[in-house]
Amino acid sequence: MLATSISRKLAVTAALGLLLVPGCHTAEQALPYAEAVRIPLDAWPAVQVGTRSVATGAGTVEYRYPILGAGHPLTAEIHTSMAERQTEFLEALPESGTPELFQDTTVLAASPRVVGIRVTETTRAGVNETFGARTLWYDAQHDTVLPWTSLFRDEAAIERAHLAIADVLEDGYDMPTEQLPGLVGEVAQRAARQEAGGSGPGEAGAGGVPPSPDPVGEETAPLDLSDPEQALRAAELWAGSPLADLAFSTAGGLAVRMEPGEVPGAGRVGEVLLPVEPEDAEDLLSELGYHAREAALSGEPDFPLGGELSVEGDSLDCSRLKCVALTFDDGPGEDTERLLDMLAGYDARATFYVLGSLVEEFPEVVERTHAEGHEMGNHSWKHDDLAAKSEAQVVDDITRTNDAIRAVTGSDPLTVRPPYGSLNGTVRRAVDQPLILWDVDTMDWQSRDTAKVAEHALTHTTAGSVVLFHDIHPSTVDAVPEVLEGLHRRGYHFVTVGDLFGLESLAPGDVFTDARAG
Ligand code: NI
Repeated sequence: MLATSISRKLAVTAALGLLLVPGCHTAEQALPYAEAVRIPLDAWPAVQVGTRSVATGAGTVEYRYPILGAGHPLTAEIHTSMAERQTEFLEALPESGTPELFQDTTVLAASPRVVGIRVTETTRAGVNETFGARTLWYDAQHDTVLPWTSLFRDEAAIERAHLAIADVLEDGYDMPTEQLPGLVGEVAQRAARQEAGGSGPGEAGAGGVPPSPDPVGEETAPLDLSDPEQALRAAELWAGSPLADLAFSTAGGLAVRMEPGEVPGAGRVGEVLLPVEPEDAEDLLSELGYHAREAALSGEPDFPLGGELSVEGDSLDCSRLKCVALTFDDGPGEDTERLLDMLAGYDARATFYVLGSLVEEFPEVVERTHAEGHEMGNHSWKHDDLAAKSEAQVVDDITRTNDAIRAVTGSDPLTVRPPYGSLNGTVRRAVDQPLILWDVDTMDWQSRDTAKVAEHALTHTTAGSVVLFHDIHPSTVDAVPEVLEGLHRRGYHFVTVGDLFGLESLAPGDVFTDARAG
């Protein structure tokens, strides 16, 4: 997804985007330059911001994303794609050095009709720095997230936008057509050839010409960019276009980012923002594009945010990611808070299958666990074998424990784990919540051996695993740092049971051991 990648000596120069490069003659007349409408997340006080930040001896990863409402598709897309990128980064960590990955978001437009978000990523390793950016557009009318291509009327409009950029570079920056960079150069050179050699057959003004190389010929029908699938297809065809990181300009046109190295005459070191003038942009935009421009120019983000948000239900799409649910049974206990500190160091979420009787004994621990975004699960009142009980007795036990948890957290636990994993038809009928077992059993209660517990968890966990621990044993809690470090380095995301399975896929009385694919 990286649009571009450059090396810079000093990060600080990037912040001073207007520095003139030494040796360049000072510009006599003002070069065409756009001012982009980009609103920092901090300038949108109403929006809740999700953050993840983990620094280990091997590297640092950090990201921020806006939470537009519980389970909002744009939040889910941003959060999940950032998590995917983090996994790629961690899987490719070098043996030495401590590289860093920072992902962030900026608001480009926000109205009840459309929200535009710019997603940026910066990696640093020693003196090398790479930067990439792309934009995502939430179309409220269709409740879906679209790529940049959906802002344009059709592919011909996308082509004309490239030609407008080419004009700016040729006329404003004195660049010869054959020196224009990337797709802008390809489109401009093709247009110049067509002008010189007569118009191509049946081409004038018709559907856009896909950038070379020509994709297998047959598909000639113009893409309908108001269709999400076709807009995505167009984004693939135009991959590498500077329009992937466009914003609206304060003048009402477009601001298209290019790398300083691609436009040396601009004399800028941070980024070069080329203008597509309002009158040129006018005919290029789709209906969504017009709404987005209107929202951008209105100044203030104005999007109805979804009411009360909890830290839970954090909108990661685990079907696209390496997720793991760490679960801790039989507590809370004396070591639970020590465990919470460890989890916090990795911004990890876990699930705690607590006993109702102990919730009454350690309410402040349960309160803290819940407040830090972990999920509470029901593990019965005092660890009786539920399969040995009558239906009425099971209902009584589970209800009493639900009540004790709700009294502290304000909500019922999402799932139940029967003690010993022991269940039968009576238990399944009696329990009104999904039943969650595990696929990785660390056998920590038996071995009480820190090294063995960590080794077992690290060896057997795969994407979608539910790992069973007991936080009442100090030897188990001692193993957790190694488990977190090892799985984090391999690109895992630590999520709650509810997030791992996706709430909607769980039905009362159903039994699950894991969410592994296939
Ligand atoms: Ni247990």
